[in-house]
Amino acid sequence: MRTRLIAGNWKMNKTASEAATFAAELSRHLSKAPTDIELVVAPPFTALESVRRVLGPASPIQLGAQNLFWETQGAYTGEISAPMLKDLGCRYVILGHSERRTLFGERGDGIRKKLQAAFTHGLRPILCIGESLAQREAGSTDEVLAQQIHESLSGFTAEPLESLTVAYEPIWAIGTGRSATTEQAVTAHQTIRAVLATTASPSIAERTRILYGGSVTTQNIAALLSSDQIDGALIGGACLDATSFATIVKLASTTRSIGV
Ligand code: 13P
Repeated sequence: MRTRLIAGNWKMNKTASEAATFAAELSRHLSKAPTDIELVVAPPFTALESVRRVLGPASPIQLGAQNLFWETQGAYTGEISAPMLKDLGCRYVILGHSERRTLFGERGDGIRKKLQAAFTHGLRPILCIGESLAQREAGSTDEVLAQQIHESLSGFTAEPLESLTVAYEPIWAIGTGRSATTEQAVTAHQTIRAVLATTASPSIAERTRILYGGSVTTQNIAALLSSDQIDGALIGGACLDATSFATIVKLASTTRSIGV
């Protein structure tokens, strides 16, 4: 049984002080957080410390970062390393988000080095993959997903991969209000799991959580989680509203999956 994970990617939103106020609100909403799912928030780097302070060590909400650089330290102006994130209390890190790929030129080989850094320093990576609308319309979704997995994951030994989570985030669904249907997400998740089985191993593929991301809301989360192929969600816009995020978390705890 894979434990569901609900993660909020705050992207470039909230100053450190706004984030502290928001984290306090979120804590109130989730004071009786369900214990059967994992919760993560990923604020901007500048707000990690203030969010950590507000949440406190006993919070059910874990801290994640939105990116890292693969080197440990040195002359890399503007970059943040895995040990720096660990020191701030991060347990998770989002890697390879499509906004990093399209706006900042990230590619498979760099994402692979970032994954290696996360594994080395004990951060749990959430690897984002997904196709563009043009790729979907050209019928190449499976191929794109397989390639993104191969270029970032092949060659890793089984042990570090135990801490991997994959997020399927079709680019056309991000921030558009146009979520993938449950059926589309399930098909993609099945492809991802099959590719993981050959790239890593069948047992790792079986244990790896695959989240869906792209216009997840309080309205569609239950339908998405009705499939046991969808192990949680990576949420953008809806996680910036404490009531919405808390509602999604509660629905993620109460929605039972009914098979594929
Ligand atoms: P939205 O939920 O705003 O579509 O963003 C999804 C996303 O990119 C999460 O990483």
